[in-house]
Amino acid sequence: MYQVTVNNKISLSYTEELCLSEILSRCGLLISVPCGGQGVCGKCKVIAQGSLSPLTETERNHLTQQEIAQGFRLACVARATGDVSITAEEIPQVVEIDFSMEHCNISHDFTDGLVIDIGTTTIAAVLYRNKKPSKIITEVNYQTSYGADVITRIAAERDHSGVLYSLLQHQIENMIAACNYPKNTVIVANTVMLHFLTGQNVLPLGEAPYQTADLFGKTYPLFGTTCYLAPCISAFVGGDITAGILASRMTEKEESAMLVDLGTNGEIAYYNKNKLFTASTAAGPAFEGAGIFMGMPAKAGAINSVSLTNGTITYTTVGNTKPKGICGSGIIDALAVMKQTGILEESGAFLEEHPLCSLDFHGRPCFRIPGTEVILTREDIRALQLAKGAIHAGMLTLAKQVDTLYLSGGFGSKIKIENAEYIGLLPKHFAKTTVALGNTALCGGVLALFSKEERRKLSEIAAMSQSVLFHQNPDFTDRYIEAMLF
Ligand code: FES
Repeated sequence: MYQVTVNNKISLSYTEELCLSEILSRCGLLISVPCGGQGVCGKCKVIAQGSLSPLTETERNHLTQQEIAQGFRLACVARATGDVSITAEEIPQVVEIDFSMEHCNISHDFTDGLVIDIGTTTIAAVLYRNKKPSKIITEVNYQTSYGADVITRIAAERDHSGVLYSLLQHQIENMIAACNYPKNTVIVANTVMLHFLTGQNVLPLGEAPYQTADLFGKTYPLFGTTCYLAPCISAFVGGDITAGILASRMTEKEESAMLVDLGTNGEIAYYNKNKLFTASTAAGPAFEGAGIFMGMPAKAGAINSVSLTNGTITYTTVGNTKPKGICGSGIIDALAVMKQTGILEESGAFLEEHPLCSLDFHGRPCFRIPGTEVILTREDIRALQLAKGAIHAGMLTLAKQVDTLYLSGGFGSKIKIENAEYIGLLPKHFAKTTVALGNTALCGGVLALFSKEERRKLSEIAAMSQSVLFHQNPDFTDRYIEAMLF
């Protein structure tokens, strides 16, 4: 029997040797484990003292000498072998949402109800009374402590049978209970989240041929209420995207249009002449800061913009506080500045003799944002190249040009479009107009909450959509390789 103390307040006893992330999860403490505990991302740093397994090679690769001296360990790698004390930074459970219905015309069959948008990272619930939001709850998805993306979550479910189901179901049940079990509830989410929510087997969604147990699009009795779950199109294009397409109104106009969700799954929908094509690029969470050495969400201390003016590089941070890391919009700007100044070569390599080239703690070339400790490493550039290449190639595989490009996701509304084009995340001169719509999934959910007609349109969108698989498409592969260049 050994004793564990967490953040000087929780004290527990264990008999078996456990890794620190498992202990923290048993204590109900949410920490970030973007790679799901594979020892790949190096993001699960905690301070631990006491009887611990020896420092591994994996940990040495992710921790600086200074961090090792301060007692930092990787929570998914280090194991408690006797009494230990752990200090860990908890994921803030309340998060902000970028949510506006301004661009949507709303018709009303109902005036009250609850809409829940289950994102892979964030869950937002909005309760309406008399057509007006009367309560908003936003929380980090508790499954985040088992990985940043859906594929990692499915893999985690294999190792922790049932845990991810109950985490999500309890979280949603609590949100519905906090809103007094409204009779009219709409839930929008990707296909994997809806499988977790309704207790259906998620494992087939993680491997070819990626079979779904259900594509939803109807009402279900859930948690003492009746919930309408927005229809999904495939294993990779979920109800959040059908809701997004609905909110953009792209299928109701004469012009050609594309909706791109700049999130982890990088879903793309292309509409032209009554035809709708949807695909997912599996871009990864790099532009959301996950898997990037100093990447972080857009919260206090995140560098959110970088610019080069008259040879001087300047930056801003969220909350005007000391820089702690860098979020998606800052990453795009930083890449643009790196390209402008010539430190970044076309291949993505650093020009080592460039005056802006610095060294990371392994002594390898990196880019340090002047006046800060925030760096972008070689591995970061590689992850960003893969992500931008996938989005860019996916867009061009579906269409050469469109009249309107809609960007969805909170991140999409913060980026500088010219920089996104300059670094090749978005193809140049692709659209006559580009519109950032924010959280389109939530907006589409609100439309479906109020109107039966909007629910009918959602079903129509799902039925008319033709899925495109990029991984079997040689055109995509060629473009992908090209689009990874800067
Ligand atoms: S290295 Fe521990 S979660 Fe990724």
